[in-house]
Formats: sequence, structure tokens, C-alpha cells
Amino acid sequence: MWIKNIRLIDAYTDRIGNVEIQDGKIKTITDQKPLSITDRKIDGRGKILFPGFIDPHVHFRDPGFTHKEDFFTGTRSAIAGGVTTIFDMPNTKPATFTREILEEKRLIARAKAQCHWGLYFGAGIGNIQEIENMKNVPGVKLYLNTTTGNLKMDDKNQWREIFRVGKRVSLHAEGDTFAHAVEIWLEEGAPCPLHLCHASLKSEVDLVRELKKDRALVSKISMEACPHHLLMTHKELEAYGAYCCMKPVLATQEDVEALWKGVEDETIDFFATDHAPHTKTEKENSNQTGIPVYGIPGVETLFPLIFTQWIERGWDLKKFAAMMSQKAVKIFSIKDKKGAIKEGFDADLVIIDPEYHGKIEAKNLHSKCGWSSYEGWDIVGRVEKTIVGGAVVFENENFFERLLAREINFS
Ligand code: DOR
Ligand code: ZN
Ligand code: ZN
Repeated sequence: MWIKNIRLIDAYTDRIGNVEIQDGKIKTITDQKPLSITDRKIDGRGKILFPGFIDPHVHFRDPGFTHKEDFFTGTRSAIAGGVTTIFDMPNTKPATFTREILEEKRLIARAKAQCHWGLYFGAGIGNIQEIENMKNVPGVKLYLNTTTGNLKMDDKNQWREIFRVGKRVSLHAEGDTFAHAVEIWLEEGAPCPLHLCHASLKSEVDLVRELKKDRALVSKISMEACPHHLLMTHKELEAYGAYCCMKPVLATQEDVEALWKGVEDETIDFFATDHAPHTKTEKENSNQTGIPVYGIPGVETLFPLIFTQWIERGWDLKKFAAMMSQKAVKIFSIKDKKGAIKEGFDADLVIIDPEYHGKIEAKNLHSKCGWSSYEGWDIVGRVEKTIVGGAVVFENENFFERLLAREINFS
């Protein structure tokens, strides 16, 4: 299959060209219009081809909470949003604390996933040996502040041990707790790469910016930001209650501006959604009982929300592509050839209509939860087609089940 006359944008290039896909790979890229193509083809005039987006932080709730989401509905929502790879978090039921539970989760993902996937391991009390022996995961997730589920770890000696054996550690930590974790990590000699999930505060961006100035640490520290922390403040929480309630909590305008500064100067490495669906009933009940239910869906709205900001700011789309895929490939040491439009790379791609202007409407989204905190928001850009493993899996609101989704390989 050829995609013809399309604007190719990845972290390295922005030009018009043609792409041939064969056997799940990008086989040929030509700059000239190939006049003799009679093969199956997609006309890409006016469209943009990006590497499929990577969302390294989702909660697809499978197993255990499949009334909120499951691997099928979650990955469908992902591909409708141009996301071709996700990493699922360990606060499922049972939590992903042992290799055996991880293997069971792998079977579920293999049977249901419509896009590529990786599965996080969880740090729990007494599972240090399991962490030591975990295989092929993006990292171990360590919860140091309140979250959905009972995964918070308070014992600092355990943090130390996890840093020592963890290979790569992703933190759910906020503000002072994050600063404290960094102190301990440094005391231990920064033994593993450390990643901060869902940055929400200026202090976190400032600290990571300082750490990155140290040549010995720059390749060991990373951070992600979510659309909700970049686009909303506590004012939305006050106005919309449960539907804008998540952890970390929405912060101030000053924090939002610091996050965008962090995006601009690349202190923030990539975007992630923390897609955390709950049912409407669960959210409504939390409004009444006052007991919070943390988390909002987001995997399908990642692209339009961030793309809209990029267009408004007139920023370089190569950097957009880098932050939507290539940076995650690098930071998580993904072995597969993903995150770029290059010959020999996996054909995980997304075709975008950059001229589209419209609104986010929950009724058009595909998460099982059926609502969005961004209802009615104006957006620029629309996913036209999503290609996973060389096959079109989503096209103008239609899904095609191709069973080409695979587990990601990490080195
Ligand atoms: O808002 C959140 N929701 N934050 C988390 O840390 C967990 C997530 C969830 O699983 O619901
Ligand atoms: Zn978290
Ligand atoms: Zn999360």
C-alpha cells in the first residue's frame, strides 16, 4: 500500500513525500511523486502523516474493573485518537505485583488489544524480589502519594531498595514528596533511570530542569505532562467537581505556565494522558458522598488538545511529533523500530486532517466511561486514519479488527 503526496512529519523531518507500506513495515519513502503507482493507495494531499502516537500512561482497568474500561474498549479509544502504543498501569485487580499476575495480564492484552501495548509492574510491600526479576516492562511504578487503589508506599527504606533494583522507576509523586524521593535517589547514587509521571507543579519542573543540567543525570531523569494539567486549573475543579477531580489535583495558573515553559525548553520530555476512566455513576456518587473518585479519561483527546495548542502557538511540528512518540521510544528504551517515519521502521502511523475545526463531544468518543472533561472544547485537527502494524485499523469513525497489536519489546 502507498500513501501518496502527504506531508511527512516526525522528529527529524517535515516534507512532502510518498510512503510504501509492506509486511507491517515502512518499505520505501520517496520525495518525488511516483507517477506509475497503480497499486492500492491513499491520497494524502492536504494531510499530515505522523508516527503513531505513544501514550505511556493509561489505566485500562483490566483485569478487575472492567465495568469502567477494558483492554478492548481502551485500545479502541486509543486508535480513534491516533495512539498506536500504550503502557498500562499496575493498579488493576489484582495489582501487577508479581510475575504471575503480569503473565495473566499479558494474556488479556494479547486477546483484546487493538494497538501495541506494554505493561507496567507495580511496587508493593514485600515484592522486591519480583521487581528484581521482572521482564520486559516499561518500568516499575512507585506510588508515593494518594491514588486510586491502595498502592501508596510510605517506607523510605523501601523506596531505596526499589531504586537499587528497579531498572527503571516511574513515580507517582507530587511536590515535596517528589523532591524527597529525588534526594533519596541521589543518595543512592542515582542507580536507575527515574521518571516523574503527570507533572503538575512548577516546583517539579524547576527541580527536573536543575537535575538535567548535570551531565551525569541528564539521561537518567525524565518527566511527562498530561493535557489536563496543561489546560486546566483548580477553577475547573471548583466548577465541575468530580468530572475534573484527579490525582495530582489541578493546580494554579502559575503552575500551568511553568508546565508550558517546561514543554518549550524540553524539561518535560513527552505527553501522557493518565487515562483513568470511572463510570458516570461513580463520579456522580462521589459528588454526593464527598468521597473523591480520582481520574478522568483522556487517551482519545490527547492529539486534538495538544495539536490545537501547537497550532495556536505556531510551534515546530517536528517537536510535536518528537513529544508524541519518539521521545518515549528513547526514554523507555523501546527496542522495536517505532516513533519515526523511516524505511525499515514499523508501520504504526496516523493520518491527520490539520484543517479540521470542531468540538470535543463525549458521544463521539469510545471509552467505556462515556464522558469527557473537555465536552464542547474547540479543537483543531482530526484523526482520519490510524495504521497499526501496516494495516488501517481506524478510518473515518470505522474500526477494523486486524489482530496486529503486539507487546512492545524493551531493552
Ligand atoms: O487521577 C488518577 N487516577 N490518578 C491516579 O494516580 C490513578 C488514576 C486511576 O487509576 O484512577
Ligand atoms: Zn499516578
Ligand atoms: Zn496514572
